[in-house]
Amino acid sequence: MRKNIVAGNWKMNTTLQEGVALAKEINEALKGVETKCDVVLATPFIHLVSVVEAVDAARIGVGDENCADKVEGAYTGEVSAAMVASTGAKYVILGHSERRAYYHETAEILKDKVVLALANGLTPIFCVGEVLEEREAEKHFDVVAAQIKESLFDLTAEDFAKIVIAYEPVWAIGTGKTATADQAQEIHAFIRQTIAEKYGNEIAENTSILYGGSCKPSNAGEIFAKPDVDGGLIGGAALKADSFMGIITAFE
Ligand code: PGA
Repeated sequence: MRKNIVAGNWKMNTTLQEGVALAKEINEALKGVETKCDVVLATPFIHLVSVVEAVDAARIGVGDENCADKVEGAYTGEVSAAMVASTGAKYVILGHSERRAYYHETAEILKDKVVLALANGLTPIFCVGEVLEEREAEKHFDVVAAQIKESLFDLTAEDFAKIVIAYEPVWAIGTGKTATADQAQEIHAFIRQTIAEKYGNEIAENTSILYGGSCKPSNAGEIFAKPDVDGGLIGGAALKADSFMGIITAFE
């Protein structure tokens, strides 16, 4: 059975002290609360060691928001998958639309990052999603299928089974405008079908597919109730413990 996951993506927010305080607050809030999902905090690199120390590893997985596409060496300013893993982090977000758009991460670069993340025991949360013009031109299915195929479909079945997918329509990220629950279900089912065609039904059924884009406590329940939506990747609403907890507890 696939897992439900609610993952916070802090992006470039919080100082180290603010980030540790937020992680501790979420860790406290989770005590005694029965959740129907795994909880992940994806933080800036610099916070990883301290956040790993601040939370109960049995309740919260820590992750990073990116890693390098190279193993090691003369790549000034980069942080490798091995370095991320050495902090105790378990996850890494890869292919976020902001990385694709602002840092020109191509399908090829992401393919290398995924391989290195897996080789270092990290679970990639691999983001896909269309921009508004693509949705309006009804190209969103093609765009998302291409993003998945180009970066992930050279993986063995064993490796693909370790991937978490996050569908994030770019027009919904940070805009306050979410996809409707039906729009999310439609494309999540399509993603699962695309995976099934390549890796078979069992792997497709076991792949967690998260929704992301202006998810908040007031809309998470309806979106998470859809059969092919297995949780969320949360930006803005993950920066306050109460709204993040409202999303964690939104599963019926
Ligand atoms: P948002 O961001 O929840 O602020 O829209 C989601 C994301 O980019 O992962």
